[in-house]
Amino acid sequence: MPTKIAAGNWKMNGLQTDMLELQLISKAAEQMDCRTIICPPTTLLGNATKFSKEIFIGGQDCHPEPSGAYTGDISANMLADTGASYVLVGHSERRSYHGENSTIVRAKAEAAIAATLKPVICVGENLQQRKSGDAIETVSSQIKDSVPANSEIILAYEPIWAIGTGVIPSFKEICQMHDAIRALLIKNYGSIGQKISILYGGSVKPSNAAEIFSATNVNGALVGGASLKSTDFIPIMRALSKS
Ligand code: 13P
Repeated sequence: MPTKIAAGNWKMNGLQTDMLELQLISKAAEQMDCRTIICPPTTLLGNATKFSKEIFIGGQDCHPEPSGAYTGDISANMLADTGASYVLVGHSERRSYHGENSTIVRAKAEAAIAATLKPVICVGENLQQRKSGDAIETVSSQIKDSVPANSEIILAYEPIWAIGTGVIPSFKEICQMHDAIRALLIKNYGSIGQKISILYGGSVKPSNAAEIFSATNVNGALVGGASLKSTDFIPIMRALSKS
């Protein structure tokens, strides 16, 4: 069975004062039958790994190279050095605002694995691709191009049009996409593909989490806005734990 994962992506949010939220989430994680990962901004990583022992900490991005003259970037080794154990790669905000294509995303995922981090590889279609019936094809080709030949990965399906909008795909659409991703992972990795966690992301809230988690091939969530407050995120963790 894939590991059930409740992951929070804090994006460019969070100051030292928000460490309290992290500690509340960490404390709640003790009681949950799922793994919790929080990806805070880089500035909080050191304290997060030190003071939130019940959860796993991840970075939000890494450079493909282990070190070098890349001002402002952070390498996978540096993330691992803070005590982080995961890293998001290929988030749609990185793909669109930083021009990252699937070749770069794949190199980042490989760098993460080399640094003993688990990459959470993000894929997802835009609204136009969804409307024209090309969602599954788009995501399949992103997976083909951005997922390395190593099964130490987590997949996050995040339809771009559902991120931060309050709109989510129908239950049927979520099932169809996650089933298609599972079939692809099995094709690529054989039986190991059964064990890779596939997360859904995009406007996950306490009110819709239980239904989303009832889909067979949804093994958790990658949550943005609702991961910033423990009062929103803990009910999502609980819904996953009970699923
Ligand atoms: P929201 O949960 O705010 O829609 O963000 C989803 C996301 O982008 C997580 O990576």
